[in-house]
Amino acid sequence: MSRQSNGPFAYYGTLIHSISPSKLEILQDAVVVVDGNGRISLISPHFSVEGGQGLQEMIPKLLKQPDARVRVTTLKPHQFIVPGFIDTHVHAPQFSMRGLGQGLHILDWLDQVTFPHESRFNNNDYATEVFTRCVQMGLRQGITTACYFASLHTEATKILADVCLQEGQRAFVGKTCMDHPETNPKYYREETAEAEAGTEELIQHCRAVDESGTFVRPVLTPRFAISCTPELLTRLGKLGREHEHAYGLGEGVPNQTHFCEAQQEIDATLKQYGKFSCEADLYEHYGLLNSMSVLAHCTLLSHDDLVKIKQRECGIAHCPISNVTVGGGFMAAPVRRFFSEGITKVGLGTDSGGGFSCSLMDVMRQALIVANAREMLSEGKERRLGLEEVFYMATLGGPRILGMQDRVGSFEVGKRFDAILVDMQDPYSGPHDDFDAVHTTTLDEFGDNSMKAITNVWQKWIMSGDDRNLRRVWVGGQMKKDTYRAGYW
Ligand code: GUN
Ligand code: FE
Repeated sequence: MSRQSNGPFAYYGTLIHSISPSKLEILQDAVVVVDGNGRISLISPHFSVEGGQGLQEMIPKLLKQPDARVRVTTLKPHQFIVPGFIDTHVHAPQFSMRGLGQGLHILDWLDQVTFPHESRFNNNDYATEVFTRCVQMGLRQGITTACYFASLHTEATKILADVCLQEGQRAFVGKTCMDHPETNPKYYREETAEAEAGTEELIQHCRAVDESGTFVRPVLTPRFAISCTPELLTRLGKLGREHEHAYGLGEGVPNQTHFCEAQQEIDATLKQYGKFSCEADLYEHYGLLNSMSVLAHCTLLSHDDLVKIKQRECGIAHCPISNVTVGGGFMAAPVRRFFSEGITKVGLGTDSGGGFSCSLMDVMRQALIVANAREMLSEGKERRLGLEEVFYMATLGGPRILGMQDRVGSFEVGKRFDAILVDMQDPYSGPHDDFDAVHTTTLDEFGDNSMKAITNVWQKWIMSGDDRNLRRVWVGGQMKKDTYRAGYW
């Protein structure tokens, strides 16, 4: 199992992370030291040493460990380190059907494209193959933690947990629960008791393979209220209460669902569950609306939904790519309103499904685009989002939703080193290796190490970079991706 940190090691150069939705911190000339357990043991900004000279000797003194032997790597001006990305909503089985079903409204898309596809995951070999590719691709994209929906099959869901553990990606893994005899096809649904027992089995499995939940944890996953009977929602709510402190005081098993995604879906939900006036009421009634909830989409919230989400400190997974590619219309979530209301537990999701990308860089850009559109459509009332805000959602917002903010999401002593080394080297700027990033003409900025130059390079990365710029990826100090050629440094 590949989970051992490569530490101790250190980097000297620029670190960039979020402090809050609107506050970015750029640590220049910083030293970060990662220990043998993959935790950050030292961060020290403004270290003025020519080309990193002498650091090798200085670090043991700073650590007050005279015998420590720490490898130090000095970053170049066009390189910087950011926290790993957190994908807060993604369907692992849909990795192999992404992009299909354009033009269909959500419920028709589920019936015609998604359910037939997901039903194939009753085959464990197929599940192993697709999930392995999905997790490996996620790591390549810098996704160090993902919150997954698997299929409804308990075995396949356990396989997904095993694959994440094997590949060393942090993950919340959910068995997708759907038992309603009238809203699910016969070939893709379970009995209520099976869905509950399968979820319990998944929880036990995750504890058996990773007791402390360092890498893999379960998440309660009613697909959405439409797919579930009231009985199943009741039982899942009860499971949540039973496992409220599974990973320590107040650190329970979270829950996730699709929430107020599309008008067709909201209408059908409120018709099926006639006694509730909004979806927040519904999930609250079943004990599935709390500070451990990950609510995907939240595109069309009523006033009451918004108030309850805030009161109950729920998290929101904003999925701006799938919001405009599947479902029927322009349905992007009002993120500016969330932030203005003080709701900061907001992350980003690739969602997979009908969208076009498994890259959180694409999701960040799409979040900007839909926020621009919302500003225009609201005649300026909903101010657009800034780059800092989409970067916050991709890195620190997710951990706040998932209760991991003390462990990952930014650079602090004691946190795990889940990180990405970004390289914005221009392929035409000199005699480098044959790095082939396409859009990153950053020539002008390379000359100096000023804050303005670094900020420009960071902005260009967000707006025009892709996975080729993610040259190294670590989870818990263990390198998951390394596209440097020998001798480059
Ligand atoms: N609502 C219920 N299931 C799904 C799904 O798989 N994708 C999306 N986008 N919405 C859903
Ligand atoms: Fe989804």
